[in-house]
Amino acid sequence: MSIDGDFMKFFNFFNREKEIREILSILEENPDIIYFIYGPMNSGKTALINEIINNRLDKNKYVVFYINLRGKFIDDYNKFLKVLFSVYEESLIDKIKTTLLSLVKDLPNVIRYSLISKLSGGVVSGIPIPKHLLSQLLLKKDNIEDIFDFLEKYFIEINKKDKKPILIIDELQVIGDLKINGFLIYKLFNFFVRLTKELHACHVFCLSSDSLFIERVYNEAMLEDRVDYILVDDFDKETALKFIDFLAEEILNKKLSDEDKELIYSYVGGKPILIIKVINKLRYEGLGEILNFILKDAMQKLDMFLDMLNYSKPKVDIGSKVIEVKREDIIEALKLFKENYEIDKKKIPMPVYIYLVKKNILFLNPIEGTLRPQSFLIWNAIKKLL
Ligand SMILES: Nc1ncnc2c1ncn2[C@@H]1O[C@H](COP(=O)(O)OP(=O)(O)O)[C@@H](O)[C@H]1O
Ligand SMILES: [Mg+2]
Repeated sequence: MSIDGDFMKFFNFFNREKEIREILSILEENPDIIYFIYGPMNSGKTALINEIINNRLDKNKYVVFYINLRGKFIDDYNKFLKVLFSVYEESLIDKIKTTLLSLVKDLPNVIRYSLISKLSGGVVSGIPIPKHLLSQLLLKKDNIEDIFDFLEKYFIEINKKDKKPILIIDELQVIGDLKINGFLIYKLFNFFVRLTKELHACHVFCLSSDSLFIERVYNEAMLEDRVDYILVDDFDKETALKFIDFLAEEILNKKLSDEDKELIYSYVGGKPILIIKVINKLRYEGLGEILNFILKDAMQKLDMFLDMLNYSKPKVDIGSKVIEVKREDIIEALKLFKENYEIDKKKIPMPVYIYLVKKNILFLNPIEGTLRPQSFLIWNAIKKLL
């Protein structure tokens, strides 16, 4: 257990009022479009959505299904179903009732009897389903259309109870390349379009820090006009300084001087996780020492990365082609950031920026068409090292 993790419990969620208002107002409308929440790594996407579903939502109006694919290894149909659903043991009576009904023909009845009674509103991780029903679905191997058919009816039943379902998939890129009779992700997108644009039956939010995945979504013809994007970025300077104040109060029970706050910002920028790390360490270390250490650490990692390029030939897949990227081109590209934090993506050849984004050194904003370091810290490391 990390110190960061332990300390998280001791302070509340901070700000993000604009993003919260935007999402709450989306939820007041009938579902019509799929939302992608994107932004650099550790900017607070998951924290924001958790704050909304746990503390800001009227639990009598919504049923939230939050599915986090982070760290999940999903390489086949069964594993996908197992993260999608959470099973419960049903009573004997329920079991007899649902087993008597044939799965496909009487699906709405099955759902009515056995599932909806378990949903009293609120948040669940995974879609509750009785154990024996999941076993039956698992037997219908590889027939993902049946599952989507089942889920569609499930969400429609919830609507009949005067509640709106909200489906949230965090780290959706985890299944970006999974094949179940063809790419699963396209079938999933089709299904999401049906739930939103066609049936208006369920709100759908997809979260991802993987900006190459978001770029793929952005350029996907089948999603044109059916998708909207919400950027959850690192805090801007003003908000970051307030966050530093907030944490200093909560964790250290004191105020920091303006010079100290400016200094912290100049090293780590508005990345929440890094600000938390610095303030946590201030309990037992001096500020200069802390900032020096984390910058050195970031420089070491970047140096190691550049060193590796002398020995291994980096390659990226573009379309069906494998393209080799030269070390000189990578260094040339990184040097562009010496003067600017953000640049037009056209200034770096595509294979080069794809490689740097894959390595989590750069963040690509496909909607703005810009590139920048994943954090101020990496930016500082680039400036010092090159
Ligand atoms: N608004 C906030 N208030 C308090 N802590 C936050 C806030 N935003 C992010 N954090 C913290 O920063 C860390 C990274 O946030 P996270 O939501 O996991 O990032 P992401 O999902 O964008 O990768 C987490 O420990 C989270 O609790
Ligand atoms: Mg996250």
